[in-house]
Amino acid sequence: MGSRFQPSGPLRGSLRPPPDKSVSHRAALVAAMAEGQTLIEGYLDAADTRSTLAAIGRLGAQVEATAAGAAVVSPRLAVRGVGLRGAATAAIDVGNAGTLLRLLPGWLAGQGAGSWTLDGDDSIRRRPVDRIAVPLIEMGAGIECENSVFPPLRIEAAPLHGISYELPIASAQVKSCLLFAGLLADGETRIAEPLPSRDHSERMLAAAGAEIERGDGVVTVRPAARLEPGTIAVPADFSSAAFLLVAALLVRDSDVTLEGVGLNPTRTGLLSILERMGAELEIEPEGERGGEPSGRLRARPCQLRGAEVGGADVPLAIDELPLVALLACFAEGETTIRGAAELRRKESDRIATVSEALSALGAEVETSEDGMRIEGGGGLRGGRIESHGDHRIAMLGAIAGIAAREGVDVEGMDAAAVSYPAFERDLASLLRG
Ligand code: S3P
Repeated sequence: MGSRFQPSGPLRGSLRPPPDKSVSHRAALVAAMAEGQTLIEGYLDAADTRSTLAAIGRLGAQVEATAAGAAVVSPRLAVRGVGLRGAATAAIDVGNAGTLLRLLPGWLAGQGAGSWTLDGDDSIRRRPVDRIAVPLIEMGAGIECENSVFPPLRIEAAPLHGISYELPIASAQVKSCLLFAGLLADGETRIAEPLPSRDHSERMLAAAGAEIERGDGVVTVRPAARLEPGTIAVPADFSSAAFLLVAALLVRDSDVTLEGVGLNPTRTGLLSILERMGAELEIEPEGERGGEPSGRLRARPCQLRGAEVGGADVPLAIDELPLVALLACFAEGETTIRGAAELRRKESDRIATVSEALSALGAEVETSEDGMRIEGGGGLRGGRIESHGDHRIAMLGAIAGIAAREGVDVEGMDAAAVSYPAFERDLASLLRG
């Protein structure tokens, strides 16, 4: 039996969405690389980020919850790191966390000596890691993976040397992996990106004292002796907020305010797509902590029009493109998404799973190798969808359910716990107004 979501009136009120998943992963890793204690304020308590805490624990870092009443993960963590070159040898289970799978090897490969294996669940075994293996091998590391592409991944550390690397695709995960390796390499490491991708690692490493330079699509990192992050504050996750924001845009008479949401411009590509679709959001910046801006977002429904999405939009809204497809069903005219072949390599093949889900609910969707075309205007009838174990597809189904005429049954709703364990509770609280 699936979880049922059906039209049940407007969403009203305000809340703070859960802490940012990308920033939480990085905060745990950078704290583990540091010497002495780092405080993390607002660490995400979800399946993916628990995998990262377990991983740094196996590598020798000590994690302590400092807030009262906390069990395993608390909003406030104290991490005693092992230092840049102090990671213990271990076998690491990354669970479902692609970000952990791609970022951690950069640090481990630079340990000078030692070996590690990284493996995870069935979905992780379909996530390509050759994208990090190729440049890490070029830097001097020994890396082996299944058919040279998939996990399990074996890392043999060796002295690394800096390289100049052109990323074949815009990927913050690959860029971050090479930034971590670059901290431990001899000489400079230069990474060129075809398009800008999220830059949380650059901001966090710079705040921890690393020498990072940026300009003209190139990030340069120099070797570091130590990292000193001090306190890392995690804003609320824009990608989690996006589900509630889209719900408020689609359900009549809604009025939703989301507080403390990360507004790093390399994450908020959805806002500019929404503007082109005719949405009128109120965005109130609240300042910056640790280099990460945050603010308040207020959304109310409005008539949307179709849009063309592609090029630089894609890495800046990569995790929100499923929501763009959902919005497109309710917008006047056609929406096209192009240049997004990377969607096929996420927790599920999101071009296939989004189009399967929306088509099952009555949408007109055509897919291509690198995107999809949606004929809007008709809204959604409703029906039943499968999450395919993908958290963002599960939450997409739930939002579709409250906006569709006849509601939606979501099979595999539990997947939402990967990034947003309190999703159903938060949605219900806004529906109660
Ligand atoms: C992430 C980067 C993105 C994104 C993923 C998290 C990160 O992947 O899809 O959910 O934390 O760096 P790529 O940048 O590799 O596309």
